[in-house]
This record gives sequence, C-alpha cells and structure tokens, in this order.
Amino acid sequence: MPITVQDGLFSLTTRDSLYQMKVDSYGVLNHTWYGPKTDMDMEYLEDYPEISFSGNPWEAKFSRMYSLNDRTLEYPGGGISDYRTPAVSIIHADGSSSLDLRYESCKILDHKYSLPGLPSSFEREHSVQSLKITLKDYVHNIFVHLLYAVFEEENVIARSVQIENCSNDPVIIKKVSSMSLDFPTGDFDVIHFHGRHAMERMMERVPIGHGEFSIASRRGHSSHQHNPAFILAEPTATETCGSAYGFLLMYSGSFEVEVQKDQLDQIRVTMGIEPSTFSWVLEKNESFYAPEALMSYSDQGFGRLSNQFHDMFRNHVIRSQFVNKKRPVLINNWEATYFNFDGKKLLEIADAARKARLDMLVLDDGWFGTRNSDFEGLGDWVVNEDKLGMPFSSLIDQIHAKGLKFGLWIEPEMVSEDSELFRTHPEWVMNSPVRLPSRSRSQLVLDLANPEVVDYLDGVFTRLLSENDIDYIKWDMNRSISDFYSKLLPPIQQQETGHRYILGVYELADRLTSKFPDVLFEGCAGGGGRMDGGMLYYFPQYWCSDNTDAHCRTFIQHGTSFFYPISTNGSHVSAVPNHQTGRVTSLKTRGVVATPGTFGYELDLTQLSDEQLEEVKEQTEVYRSRQNLIIHGDYFRLSDPQTGIASWQISDKDRNRVLVQSVVFERRPNTRKPRILLRNLPAGALYRRVSDGTIFSAQALIYGGILLGCELETDAAYEEEFVRIEDDSFRPDCNSDSSI
Ligand code: DGJ
Repeated sequence: MPITVQDGLFSLTTRDSLYQMKVDSYGVLNHTWYGPKTDMDMEYLEDYPEISFSGNPWEAKFSRMYSLNDRTLEYPGGGISDYRTPAVSIIHADGSSSLDLRYESCKILDHKYSLPGLPSSFEREHSVQSLKITLKDYVHNIFVHLLYAVFEEENVIARSVQIENCSNDPVIIKKVSSMSLDFPTGDFDVIHFHGRHAMERMMERVPIGHGEFSIASRRGHSSHQHNPAFILAEPTATETCGSAYGFLLMYSGSFEVEVQKDQLDQIRVTMGIEPSTFSWVLEKNESFYAPEALMSYSDQGFGRLSNQFHDMFRNHVIRSQFVNKKRPVLINNWEATYFNFDGKKLLEIADAARKARLDMLVLDDGWFGTRNSDFEGLGDWVVNEDKLGMPFSSLIDQIHAKGLKFGLWIEPEMVSEDSELFRTHPEWVMNSPVRLPSRSRSQLVLDLANPEVVDYLDGVFTRLLSENDIDYIKWDMNRSISDFYSKLLPPIQQQETGHRYILGVYELADRLTSKFPDVLFEGCAGGGGRMDGGMLYYFPQYWCSDNTDAHCRTFIQHGTSFFYPISTNGSHVSAVPNHQTGRVTSLKTRGVVATPGTFGYELDLTQLSDEQLEEVKEQTEVYRSRQNLIIHGDYFRLSDPQTGIASWQISDKDRNRVLVQSVVFERRPNTRKPRILLRNLPAGALYRRVSDGTIFSAQALIYGGILLGCELETDAAYEEEFVRIEDDSFRPDCNSDSSI
C-alpha cells in the first residue's frame, strides 16, 4: 500500500522513494525521512542533544533534552520556541500569533484530495490514495489538515494544507506554506531558475550556506524572474547520479521559496504564497486551502528527476484532452506583421502556409477595437472588421477553406485606458483609490479578484468562441501586477487581492476550457512569465519565451526542461536576423532548436522563396514524423549550453527510437570533433543510425558517444536518429580474427 499508518508512524511509499512522519510522545508530528526506500521506521536516526538557548515546551517540565527548535518537524507553527522560519503564521483574535500544532487524527482516502478553486493534480486511470493528517492548536482551536497524495509510478508526492478556523472569532493567516520539509543534514546545493523577460529560467546552482536563501515573485504572477520550482541536490549530484529532490508549486501568483540552514546544519525548506504581500481573514468555521506542491526524489540525478516530473505533468497535471495529441504546426503573424496587417495580408500568409503544408494560422494581437499599437484598445474584444477589410467570419472561412485551422490571440486580464471598457468601467481596474496606478506596457490590470469582472470576461469570450469557428486560443498576459487593491474588499482584506486575482484567473480559465474542450489553449505571459504548474493544468502548452533566437532558446529550453515536459514548450522558427538579438542562424539550426516543443513559425512566410517554402515543408514533415517522440517520449539533457554546445536526446519509452540533436555555437580551429554521450539505453541493445546505416551498441552510444561534425560554420546544428534493431547478425564481433 502506498500509504500506511501504524503506531503513529506514517509511511508514504512511491516506486522508489519513502516519506515518513512520526508522532512523538508530546503529540508533535516529526518528519523522519525522505529519500530512497529503507523498509523500516527511520525514527532511530533522531538525535537531539541538549542545545543551549533552545527553549523547551512546558510539558517537558525541566527536561532540556526536548526542544522544538532542533527537531525535524513536519509542519511547524511559529512563536513557540522554534526560531526557524515557520510554515504557517496566524494572528489570533487576541493579537497573539503563536501556533502550537499537535497531532489530532488521520484518515486515508481512496481518491485524490481536491482543492476548491485551485488547480491540482488528479488521478486518471488508477485511483490515487490520499492521507489527511489533522493537527490542532488546542488553545486557539485552529485545525491544520495536512493533505498528501501518492503517485507511485511517477515517484511524486503531492501535498497541500487546509486551515480551518474552529475558534469563535475571525483570525488572520499571515503565512501559509504549501509544504515544509526539514532535513537533518545540510550538505546540499539549491538549483533554481531565474531570469528576465526574453531570458526565462536560467539555471543557477548554489551551495546552501548558513542563514536563509529565498527566491520569490511579488509580481502577482509566477514571473520571468523566478520560477516556482527548485531542486535540492547533493553537491556531487549530476544529470546521471546522486540524490536530488525536486519541488514545484502548482501556483501562478506571487510565491516564495525559503531554504534555511540552522545552527545544527539542518535544512528547512518552505514553499507557498509569498507572505509579505499576502494575508487572509479566516472567518469562524471557514477553511483556507493552500496551493498544491509536488515533491519528487531521484537517486539518479536530475535527469531521472526531470523524467519523473514530465510524466507527472503528462499523466496527472495537464487536464486538457490535447495532452496526448499531436499539436498543429502553426504560423503566427506576430513577428511577421506586428500590428500592421489586414485580411488580405493574412490570407497571403495562409496561402504560403498551405504551400508549406502547415496546419494552422494564428492571428495575434491587433484584431480588435482600436488596437493598432500597444497603447490602446485592450479590453474591447470586438473584431475590427474595417482593419481586416472583410467580415471576420469570411476571413476564418477562407482560412479553413485553405485547409488550415484558425487560432486567435487574447489578453483577457488587461485594459488600455484608451478603450470603451475602461471608459465604462474604470472601477474594474486594480488600483488604490488614493493613488494613480503604475502603467506597464501602457496598460492597466483588470481586477479579477472581483467576480463581476470574471463573469463579464467569461461572457465576452464565451460569445467570441461560440459565434466564431476558432480552433486555438493564445491567452496572453503582458505585465506584472502592481497597486494590488480590489475596490470590492474592505481594508482589512486588501492583502487578499493578489491571491483572489489568481483565483479569478483560474475560475475564468476553468470556465472557458471546460466550455470549449475542443479549442486548443496556449498560455503566454510576454513569453514564459507565467509558465508554471497552475497554468499548465488548464493549458497544455505555453509560449516558452518571446526570445526566438536559436542560441538563446537553447539556454531557456534547457532550464525549462528540468520540470516541464517538452510537449508544453511553445517553440517557433522565426526570421533572421532575429528580432530579439539580431543573430543570424540557419533555417536548419532554428528548426532543430524548435523541435523539442510544439513547433511552428513566427515570420513572414510570404517573404520566402519557393525553395525556402519547400525547406519549411520538409522541416515540418520531419517534425511531424517525430511528434510521437516529443509528446510521449523521455527527454534527456546531454550537455549544458554553457559549454558552447547544446545537446539533448529524446527517446520513446521502449527505447526503440532515439533522436539526438545538438547545436554548436562556436568553432575553434585545430580541435577534435565534439563528442556527445547518449543516455539511458538498454544494455545489449543495438541501434542503426538512420543517416548512414552504421550499427552501434547501446554501450558504445552511452560510453563512447557520437562525434559531431566540425564544419567551419557560424552556427551548426546536428541531428541523428537511431532505431533499435533486433537482428543479431549486425552485432560487431570484437573477438573474430578479422577484427582489427
Ligand atoms: C507578448 C507575446 O509573448 C508575443 O508573442 C505577442 O503575442 C505579443 N505579446 C502581442 O502583444
């Protein structure tokens, strides 16, 4: 059984990992193990010396051997002589804020727990066991229900927290972590993913020193700057070996990760809603649910950890029916025309797309209201047929008649001051009534914490999708949020606005994706500024970055791949010189880099010659032949782009087909050819290289690797496919006399 409870010992077992908690004689829930399976109660490792200046609970009488400050606790409250960062912090009606959580009860459920209003992992074919452990502060009558669900095959444990106020008065939640985890030893590196617009998810690895290390977003969205996911790894862990723990928050709003190393070299990790911009008034008899956190452990380095998260996303996080389907290869007009297009131009692009046998044309920003620049029109979701020069329905029909699907860009959450919506409903904008709001990209944020605004947007986009034959929606969001203030809420609740805003986004996404399950949704936030587990629950793919430069993209996709499967990675071939960097790369390089993703084009196809369109057609056909690999396969990072070579491998689950792609950024004279080692192929298997028929053993590919070319080019991309062969006569005979 994945979950067992015996004499106060809770064991959560996945295929390769074990998570344990134990209630001690004071009723405190201790965290006693997370790591490989050990088949025993790991409490024997508990070792708590007497530590000066660590306080002792009253019930310990005058014993100095028991202090909450030095134990590995499962979900610590604050203010009771544990001086480390608390997982939860509550201000009670009397103004005090200590929370002493003791074990109350537990329950095993034969289904996955759910979180009202929040995206969370789900069971698909097999049922998933959950565990609910209730802790209680007996003085203040606050219940903290810890929720766990075990995804055995994926080696993932999902967890969340429900706080229930059973006191007689409202309380204020100041901090609520979705997870807290104490490690008794502290020799770890933290690997996290920072960045900026057009340069998201840059991987950084730092050793954990004493004190506190945190990453956070206070922008109201998970952000380009920090992604809500990180790894704790042994200092010696690599892509292929060593212990690594991955943590991911299924949340799209402001978040914080704290990693603290204490006086005993213990580590406490907490992750949840960012506390400095949050508080929540919890009325008597009400509950608050924290966003879900996912945890996974690998004893075979980051490669295995990534595979586990990728499987988890595909099997239990992305709820769209498109998750296992081949996605349309699209042409998006943004970098082709920006705001400067009409129906005729779009149809010309569609003609070229048809020649190149693409699947879908996506009409990006600029099709509605007075939207001819990013200073105006947001919020007026009425088609500008004057600009198109034809009825919208005629444009869509003509595109469909060319054999292409039709997709459309929207940005529901924003408004321009120069718009009918703003003129009619200035009160729907998020800003304090006593201060003028900050603009960003010249736009303001609609108050989605207000259910009336959510209902209005639901109506607008339901009409748009019901009245028009639209196959795909790109849901964009182009600024960080500031001036958090919802005019609907009383002053005491204003700190709830950021979280309520995200709940409003989820509500709208839930309604639209449920009403239109056949419409493919792609998320976007100025590229990947809200690419996280929360949004991927609703949208099966995400525009990974506004940076389409092939070299930069290898870094962005490298970082993104640690947690998110490549089937979610919105990736396009764009024009050269690249619009973000000015770099010129070959069409082949751009195609190779866009392959581990949803694939498409973001350039003016009408500017391409017939030969170039033919190349696009061939590139697309090759991509299609690999789509099964991309959607269902395992992805391995073979090299870090920092080395000057970006290289990755995609194999099907049975390891019958293997694709290796590489980009070499820089050439130096008089060097050997770069060598790339493949991963995770079954010992004894034989593979034929498709390009020239050479037979390789799996061991040769893994330990010897393959050589890349060394042509002197400004940029060079390589790709090789290998297919597994059964015929033993191909096996190179190392012992025969004729061998050299
Ligand atoms: C930002 C997106 O990331 C781009 O792809 C494009 O859709 C623009 N917004 C349109 O305003």
